[in-house]
Amino acid sequence: MRISILGAGNMGRAIFNHLYQRREFELALIDPKIDKIWKSLGKSGKVKPPLLFRDLLHYTQNLNQQNTILVLAVKPNQLLPLHKEIKVSKNLSFANFVIVSVVAGISLSTLRKIFKTKNIIRAMPNTPVTIGQGMTGLYFPKNISPQNKDSVLKIFELLGKTLIVNSEKKLHSITALSGSGPAYFFNFYEALLSTSKELGLSKKEILLLVKQTAIGATAMFCEAKEPINILRENVTSKGGTTEIALETLDKYEFAKGVLQAVLNAKERSINLGSELNSEIQENTQK
Ligand SMILES: NC(=O)c1ccc[n+]([C@@H]2O[C@H](COP(=O)([O-])OP(=O)(O)OC[C@H]3O[C@@H](n4cnc5c(N)ncnc54)[C@H](OP(=O)(O)O)[C@@H]3O)[C@@H](O)[C@H]2O)c1
Repeated sequence: MRISILGAGNMGRAIFNHLYQRREFELALIDPKIDKIWKSLGKSGKVKPPLLFRDLLHYTQNLNQQNTILVLAVKPNQLLPLHKEIKVSKNLSFANFVIVSVVAGISLSTLRKIFKTKNIIRAMPNTPVTIGQGMTGLYFPKNISPQNKDSVLKIFELLGKTLIVNSEKKLHSITALSGSGPAYFFNFYEALLSTSKELGLSKKEILLLVKQTAIGATAMFCEAKEPINILRENVTSKGGTTEIALETLDKYEFAKGVLQAVLNAKERSINLGSELNSEIQENTQK
């Protein structure tokens, strides 16, 4: 299977690294700074390097267009310049491609105007894909063949877990929950870490305590047969330390704050998407 990655930034490189380890794909990376990026990846010379290109034109001129999965991993604001690049390369057709866009907020309808193909899938990964523990939401429109669906799923299953949704709109919710989610957890851990002085613990001591508690609680959450409220109740004895701590979080409306945070993230995803989609769609009509 040939998999090409357009945009070798944080997300593009994370996806590339997992595919590269498997040594079963014919890989290509396309990025304006590709030479510098490849050097910085420091891969050993023992395995076959991927094909490296600095732009799409260079890529299509040098490769026959066999069936290819093209992972689109540029920033949303880089899509307009990319569209100009595609327009200039008159012979460039994406008919033999299946495009998988990880670009947040950019709709299938906009992407179809840029690439002039309906073979486009949207994926919403999160940063833990870098360590193979990612969560990726995927939306496959009905026209995607079962074979192409399986190939794309295989890529994201190498990066962690996947969830296929039946509506493109649900990708906004996924963005708000698992896309931004790692930062919510980091923020909570940061808040716990910031208590070191008041608790009289050194930075090293509190780091160990918070990290291992996060690992332990997450493992229990993932493995336990009981629902999470039972896990919480099991730690909370009447009149004890956990009870007063949780009552305090309640007093500061912790759960309400979390709900509002996630809803605001979803709304931001919808708004950012709609502004960019209109701007790109206007430009693709010119
Ligand atoms: N990071 C995340 O957690 C995350 C999660 C889900 C989805 N995403 C999505 O993933 C996409 C990439 O994010 P990122 O954090 O990886 O961004 P990034 O680090 O900025 O990577 C984008 C890369 O694409 C290159 N590029 C720009 N225009 C190009 C073109 N025409 N052809 C080829 N390469 C081009 C950029 O080069 P220059 O730097 O030289 O412009 C850069 O190396 C975004 O759309 C984002 O919404 C990211």
